[in-house]
Amino acid sequence: MKILVTGGTGYIGSHTCVELLNKGFEVVVFDNLYNSKIEVVDKIESITGKKIAFYKADMLDKESMRPVFEDHTFDAVIHFAGLKAVGESVEKPLLYYQNNITGTLNLCELMSEYGCKRIIFSSSATVYGEPEEIPVTENCPKGACSNPYGWTKSMLEQILSDIQNSDHEWSVVLLRYFNPIGAHESGLLGESPNGIPNNLMPYIMQVAVGKLPELGVFGDDYDTPDGTGVRDYIHVVDLAKGHVNAVEKVTSTNEVNVYNLGTGNGYSVLDIVKAFEKANDLTIPYSIKPRRAGDLASYYANPKKAKEELGWEAQYDLERMCQDSWRFAKKNLS
Ligand code: NAD
Ligand code: UFG
Repeated sequence: MKILVTGGTGYIGSHTCVELLNKGFEVVVFDNLYNSKIEVVDKIESITGKKIAFYKADMLDKESMRPVFEDHTFDAVIHFAGLKAVGESVEKPLLYYQNNITGTLNLCELMSEYGCKRIIFSSSATVYGEPEEIPVTENCPKGACSNPYGWTKSMLEQILSDIQNSDHEWSVVLLRYFNPIGAHESGLLGESPNGIPNNLMPYIMQVAVGKLPELGVFGDDYDTPDGTGVRDYIHVVDLAKGHVNAVEKVTSTNEVNVYNLGTGNGYSVLDIVKAFEKANDLTIPYSIKPRRAGDLASYYANPKKAKEELGWEAQYDLERMCQDSWRFAKKNLS
């Protein structure tokens, strides 16, 4: 089977390419390299010993994507390409709505034109807003997102569902990720955001390599066991494997299906700091700061539906997530 991976040189996309190639899929990638580097293609190929076809294309320039569809016939598309920085989306909502929504509309038009109507979409747990129940199940209604980035995910879920509803040749799998961290065990693939990171693990890694003096812990007065925010951290390789399982689903049904991809375990900010220190024999200096606007106290998945229907469940524990993150940081960030 041949799979198009949009945004395939990015953090989650690159790990998914590796898992797809390991399972014998043919992989074609396009990316505009806005938030990733072309070297990732060589790294994917050196890890797997297999080739991928790479195209530099921008979803906002529909004609730049056309050669991808002219040259290949796809069994499914896994759609990662998009902008993802929450804070930036508040400052530049037009950029986010334009890139993520117009870009995806362009992609879907081409998919329709070339007769590939199966899409797995990178959504986010953020679409639940303030969820009705914790752990969060897929039955929780979607809620109000606290930023434009989140709204692009929520709106795109609706848009893809409407497309499928209008044309039952479409098959749509919406994957709602919780908090991906970790890196490939080779230390070749991982996440290295530009500038000062917003997310917890990239920030910890910058402190660990000595680029930032200390971690600010955003609030210690939440209603959680130690007062700091609780999240569902999932190893990016587990997340990538979830997409491989979702390919079987998207190619065997003509529906809209939605799955949480998380571990079901909630860990606090201080749990993560301690686990990182223990796994890597390091000290992470931190100080308590005020709460960050828009943060929820506790947020973790009920991943049962993905286990039952996709036959997928996360395997890697927190220690492994911390070790793999650090291996990547040492090789790439210092
Ligand atoms: P990433 O930034 O590493 O990867 C996204 C890739 O898309 C980048 O390589 C970027 O260059 C590319 N891209 C962006 N706009 C493009 C365009 N117009 N045309 C072509 N390529 C374009 O991000 P990631 O962490 O790998 O996330 C992948 C997807 O998963 C995104 O859609 C993101 O919103 C979603 N997601 C991520 C998280 C997370 O915490 N990392 C959580 C939930 C959902
Ligand atoms: N945190 C700190 N200090 C930091 C960064 C984060 O204490 O420097 C805390 C936050 O307050 C929160 C936890 O660490 O309690 C996790 O924060 P992240 O920013 O790493 O992740 P979020 O859960 O806020 O959001 C992430 C993605 C969103 C996505 C959401 C759900 O950034 O895009 O997970 O998938 F929508």
